[in-house]
Amino acid sequence: MNKKILITGGAGFIGSHVVREFVVKYPNYQIINLDALTYAGNLENLKDIEDRPNYTFVKADITDQAAMNAVFKQYQPDGVIHLAAESHVDRSIADPTAFVMTNVIGTVNLLNAAHAIWKDNFGGKRFHHVSTDEVFGALGESGFFTEDTKYDPHSPYSASKASSDHFVRAYHDTYGLPIVLTNCSNNYGPNHFPEKLIPLCIHNILHDKPLPVYGDGKYTRDWLFVIDHAKAIDLVFHEGKDGDSYNVGGFNEWQNIDLIKELCRQMDVKLGREQGTAASLITFVKDRPGHDLRYAIDASKINAELGWSPSVTFEQGLSLTIDWFLSNQEWLDHVTTGDYQHYYNNQYHGA
Ligand code: NAD
Ligand code: TYD
Repeated sequence: MNKKILITGGAGFIGSHVVREFVVKYPNYQIINLDALTYAGNLENLKDIEDRPNYTFVKADITDQAAMNAVFKQYQPDGVIHLAAESHVDRSIADPTAFVMTNVIGTVNLLNAAHAIWKDNFGGKRFHHVSTDEVFGALGESGFFTEDTKYDPHSPYSASKASSDHFVRAYHDTYGLPIVLTNCSNNYGPNHFPEKLIPLCIHNILHDKPLPVYGDGKYTRDWLFVIDHAKAIDLVFHEGKDGDSYNVGGFNEWQNIDLIKELCRQMDVKLGREQGTAASLITFVKDRPGHDLRYAIDASKINAELGWSPSVTFEQGLSLTIDWFLSNQEWLDHVTTGDYQHYYNNQYHGA
């Protein structure tokens, strides 16, 4: 079946893997990648597929309702996979309004644009909202987030994503817009912007800079290899039940300090350095305000209903990720010029 699918945020970290997955796996689909190319968007992430005949790039900003209406009118997509967002918690603490604009208003603009062209015939249409487990708030030492866990966001980022999730459900319940949602745990892998923990530490080890550990380092995250997330999105987009949400996670919890030590160990091996070299850069710094203690996903629904489970172990995924960064140091240099140094020197890491 031929479909036209609009993927937003396709030049970013996760979006680039989703675009690649769809362009390569479905040559009879037309994939339209809509992205504003903010600091986090980079078309280098897609250079291996940019010449494929079923791929089109549109530079546009989802905060612009008229621009979204025009794109939907021109391309008439059957499906939307919405990933465009401001995605970094620390940035949301510094500038919450940018997160409201893109994550809340931008999502509502897309819902309006989809509703306007689909409202007379919802058949075969689907709006897939890609969201985060952070909407559920923080867990204590035990327990997991399920699809029924009550929303309890704490950071401006998670509050904006929770709000966008509510709007997506509201358009389903009010107008009948066909929707699905995925709420995923922390991703890692190639193309990950070096403001998030894993790529930031890889970057800093390569530049002999401090590895900033917030607070006591005992905060826990559930890490998933990004290509496994892209495969989960493919499954839910095609086979998920209308109106439902699916939690996606790696069954892979790590305290930050243990994760950084493991990363340091692997980096020393791969760089042929004496063990302990990278770990000597570990520096405990001021904690993030409102820092969520622990996230952990119960992914049994997507496993039972759609047969999804992660395809790589964390050991394999982390090794692949480090190898990618080591062979793509030009990419790292490109994305860390300009604003990046200014941001890090002033905001968080006191470098
Ligand atoms: P990212 O920051 O790497 O990429 C975001 C992309 O959106 C960039 O290409 C950027 O240019 C684009 N964008 C930002 N504002 C835009 C706007 N106003 N108009 C159009 N494009 C805009 O983010 P990511 O980590 O790839 O996350 C993608 C999605 O997945 C987000 O919705 C995020 O909330 C969600 N998510 C991320 C994670 C994670 O671990 N990174 C986990 C679960 C869910
Ligand atoms: P991050 O990668 O920003 O993802 P999120 O906040 O969305 O989970 O952070 C992952 C964890 O690592 C989180 O507990 C905050 C912590 N962290 C540090 O300790 N140091 C850092 O420099 C960064 C960026 C994060």
